[in-house]
Amino acid sequence: MADLGGDGERLVSAARAARETAYAPYSRFPVGAALRFADGAIVTGCNVENASYGLALCAEAVAVAKAMGEGRRGGLVAVAISGGATPTAPCGRCRQVLHELATLGGTDPLVLCAGDVEVREVRLSALLPAAFGPADLDR
Ligand code: THU
Repeated sequence: MADLGGDGERLVSAARAARETAYAPYSRFPVGAALRFADGAIVTGCNVENASYGLALCAEAVAVAKAMGEGRRGGLVAVAISGGATPTAPCGRCRQVLHELATLGGTDPLVLCAGDVEVREVRLSALLPAAFGPADLDR
């Protein structure tokens, strides 16, 4: 984790810990996410599934909802995601949900996709180029 050093290790650990609380009895694919903010705060989330399968909430979306529910409106500097044994990239919907929070603070967070061993690092803007965002509604 070249760009974040020890902060990156801590963020990946937080995502792995959040994965332990996932409610994923249907897919049996627990996911944990951890958001790091410029003030040093970490907000985590896990996937929360439902007997009505299509209502499943992704870990990243839960984390963003928690953070925004606490009043955060930016400052998102990094995101870690822990899913399967190999690095798990955020789904398309979660890329968009993360983009909303990131763009409010003008940041381009580093996304750490953490497998059991390998951690892949990629900027959110690379995962969601030419993103739709709040500014598009001003036209
Ligand atoms: N999932 C996430 O939590 N985040 C993603 O970015 C991809 C998918 C969850 C949704 C569902 O509970 C399970 O993984 C299998 O798709």
